[in-house]
Amino acid sequence: MSTPALDTKRSLIARAAAQPVDYRRIYVWELPVRAYHWINAVALTALLITGYLIGAPIRMFYASEAYQLYWFGWVRFIHFLAAFIYVFNFLARLYWGFVGNKYASWAAFFPLKRWQRREIVDVIKADVFEVKAHGPISTGHNALAGTIYFGTFLAFVFQTITGFALYSSMSNSWLPRMFTWIVPLMGGEFSVRFWHHLFLWFFVTFIIVHIYLAFYHDYIEGRGTVSSIIGGWKFDREKPHK
Ligand code: HEM
Ligand code: HEM
Repeated sequence: MSTPALDTKRSLIARAAAQPVDYRRIYVWELPVRAYHWINAVALTALLITGYLIGAPIRMFYASEAYQLYWFGWVRFIHFLAAFIYVFNFLARLYWGFVGNKYASWAAFFPLKRWQRREIVDVIKADVFEVKAHGPISTGHNALAGTIYFGTFLAFVFQTITGFALYSSMSNSWLPRMFTWIVPLMGGEFSVRFWHHLFLWFFVTFIIVHIYLAFYHDYIEGRGTVSSIIGGWKFDREKPHK
């Protein structure tokens, strides 16, 4: 069956096949950025699952006496272990924003230049309205992605502060103790817990949209977006498509 959308897609594919172009390989994501990405993805997934279970424990496990089980202890232990990995991994990425290549640099996260703000509008048109199949989208993070990652980094900081504030009443270690004053500042443990829990859903939403967009941009840009976060390389057209 043929539809107008399918016809457009077919003609795009036929046109691309009829106009071969040269591609250049570009080393975009250095090893520390890729390592940060996947350590963060694993730690964050562990935090989301264990955090959710801490907030909504599974009751069927209570069939046995509590002293016979330690499953909730393991859930909390994994949450705290993943929390430390995630925080120190994030600190390493903050540092790499100053010493890494131009794609990893902090400059890629702030749309201070006019062309970056124009690119934000372009990418929204492509992602939300699907009206722009090909455009000169940045080789590293596009301006919209960079801005959103920065917002995510701020959420990382917030979650770290509220997490360590909650942890401060359960630990004598110097790191959590540094956050004791956050609890009264935010109106008590209940309120800190509420905000720490609410941000869980921010990360769940981010991850769903992020993975979808990584694949979608791989498809519309045709420059190896998904494989780039594994191997580091992207591709640029030598001559842009007409
Ligand atoms: C993005 C990362 C994180 C997510 C999504 C997350 C999520 C959660 C959630 C949903 C809860 C349950 C709150 C409730 O409803 O009662 C929780 C509890 C907690 N989280 Fe996190 N968390 C994260 C990072 C951290 C970090 C960095 C720490 C720092 C140590 C931390 C420490 C804690 C503590 C101490 C609790 C309370 C545990 C308890 O009372 O048994 N979290 N977390
Ligand atoms: C828990 C899951 C994930 C989280 C929290 C996450 C988070 C992030 C963050 C924060 C960045 C910016 C990296 C930096 O500059 O340091 C990023 C980039 C990227 N991620 Fe993920 N990611 C996740 C899973 C995935 C998966 C499963 C894929 C692939 C299918 C993926 C593909 C990418 C790509 C391609 C980039 C570079 C995108 C660009 O060009 O702007 N991510 N991710």
